[in-house]
Amino acid sequence: MKKVLALCGSARRGGNTDLLLQEILLGAENYGASTEKLYITDFNIKPCLGCTICKQQEDCAQDDDYRLLLDSIQNSHAVIIGSPVYMGQVTGQTKLFIDRLYQLRRGDRTLKFDGSQIRGAAVVTCGAPSQEHPQAALASLKLLFRFLNQPKVAEVVGTSLGPRGSVRERDGLLEEAREVGRKLVQ
Ligand SMILES: Cc1cc2nc3c(=O)[nH]c(=O)nc-3n(C[C@H](O)[C@H](O)[C@H](O)COP(=O)(O)O)c2cc1C
Repeated sequence: MKKVLALCGSARRGGNTDLLLQEILLGAENYGASTEKLYITDFNIKPCLGCTICKQQEDCAQDDDYRLLLDSIQNSHAVIIGSPVYMGQVTGQTKLFIDRLYQLRRGDRTLKFDGSQIRGAAVVTCGAPSQEHPQAALASLKLLFRFLNQPKVAEVVGTSLGPRGSVRERDGLLEEAREVGRKLVQ
């Protein structure tokens, strides 16, 4: 059975990002996938120290929950990462995790793990109405997949979203998310 993993970078349960991720998972489940959603904010992810020991040795020098999230990614057929825009970027918790992926490349730029078979999707939500506004956050999320050697990433972007769950009132967005879920497993 294909496993689809969603990583939520919002601490707000039932928030806009959470609901869009849930909808993608629902779409994947409808086509036979098993799914798991993890909230990055539940994990103890320390900031990268910039020691670059990871360029000489396989593991990161820090012992925290980073490895748990990476293991989950490595055991998935498809991965979706989602974050709201906070002050123009992904949430701090999401960024801490993405920074740590730097350890996946050795000093000679070869990859410690080739994730080219993992299908990817990114979800961004924001309050601003402009489609331009969330692009910086979207680019950060896509870096996760670049580090796994997967350049192709599906996108779901929700603008003009404020209160928890306001995404439910947005025509077509939940359906779009469900469709992304279907495509990730078909
Ligand atoms: C601390 C904070 C910072 C925010 N910064 C921005 C921002 O820079 N641009 C924007 O368009 N929306 C911003 N927002 C609004 C959220 O991105 C938006 O409401 C989003 O849908 C919330 O997602 P959630 O429900 O998954 O938590 C901010 C919200 C918070 C709480």
